Amino acid sequence: MGYDTINAGHAAEAPAVAVSELSKRYGRLLAVDRVTFQVQHGEIFGLLGPNGAGKTTIIRVLTGLSRPSAGQVRVFAHDMERNPKEAKKLFGLVPEITNLYDELSALENVLFMAQLFGVPPQERLDRAHQLLDLFGLGSKSRVRLSHFSRGMKRAVAIAAAVVHRPRLLFLDEPTAGLDVVHARTLRRLVRRLNQEGVTVFLTTHYLEEADQLCDRIALLVKGRIVALDTPEALKDRASKGGVAVEVAFEPMLDQCAVGLGRRTGIRRVTARGDRLRVEGDKVSEVVAAIVAYAAESGTEITHIATVRPTLEEAFVQLTGLSSEVMKTEKGGS
Ligand SMILES: Nc1ncnc2c1ncn2[C@@H]1O[C@H](COP(=O)(O)OP(=O)(O)OP(=O)(O)O)[C@@H](O)[C@H]1O
Ligand SMILES: [Mg+2]
Repeated sequence: MGYDTINAGHAAEAPAVAVSELSKRYGRLLAVDRVTFQVQHGEIFGLLGPNGAGKTTIIRVLTGLSRPSAGQVRVFAHDMERNPKEAKKLFGLVPEITNLYDELSALENVLFMAQLFGVPPQERLDRAHQLLDLFGLGSKSRVRLSHFSRGMKRAVAIAAAVVHRPRLLFLDEPTAGLDVVHARTLRRLVRRLNQEGVTVFLTTHYLEEADQLCDRIALLVKGRIVALDTPEALKDRASKGGVAVEVAFEPMLDQCAVGLGRRTGIRRVTARGDRLRVEGDKVSEVVAAIVAYAAESGTEITHIATVRPTLEEAFVQLTGLSSEVMKTEKGGS
């Protein structure tokens, strides 16, 4: 108690989230294993991991829905075990499974949450309308939620989660199960809230989403953080100081890859659709080898470009897992 009171004065300087040596056990299963990280103000921080990695468990502990087995969690300097009440006023949560009422309208849902979070009665209606307008649901505000698509429901859930103007928003798999268009709309909403100053903590199993949306990503596998960095830095680490060049030949024959692979300065050649990906130490060496090969074999170069590793490649390198583990979808809304 005393500790929290002292620290509350420094809340502005403290990170939005500070997790230290957090573990969570379910019986014999260690779902979260000594996880340590901080989320800074203004960041979009992503927890990226396959099914069962422990993402939801971490969000539940961070938001006070579940108690840690060991370690410490602070949200704006408030200890989530000792003083969750203060912290809860400062964040919003969009859980993995919807917390909305299907039989209420979008507006009623947002108003209900506003009431729950103590938004002054005279402000509730204005704020709810503002948010629903902002999220493109203004014309549907009085429609029952049961008539909404998954994507629209998710947008209402976000509106409901920020109606008390939190400084931090937790989103557990915000776009899981959504089609491309709805997913894009939701990402835009998240970015917009972030631009307005809301720190975002999200979980996802979509590599592309983490890459596009997050300032920093923690890769979570079996309850452990195996890497934590900006998307660019993760990709750089995966390239291990090497370079890659993508090339297409006309005609493209199987022996192109074999012939190129034998040349000096080439580490590896792999087929990528109708192109080859050629890896080496230096761009100049790789390009020289490609040009020399084309001249000798009488094939024409129809495309050549340097390529950076994708986050998917970085994920595979850093976790030792196949990227297929990130593509298994789960049901539910
Ligand atoms: N209440 C619980 N009791 C027992 N085991 C649990 C409980 N909640 C989660 N687990 C287990 O803990 C591990 C982590 O689960 P969690 O839901 O945190 O993973 P996740 O990364 O969110 O996965 P998903 O991508 O499927 O949402 C899993 O093995 C899960 O079965
Ligand atoms: Mg989950």
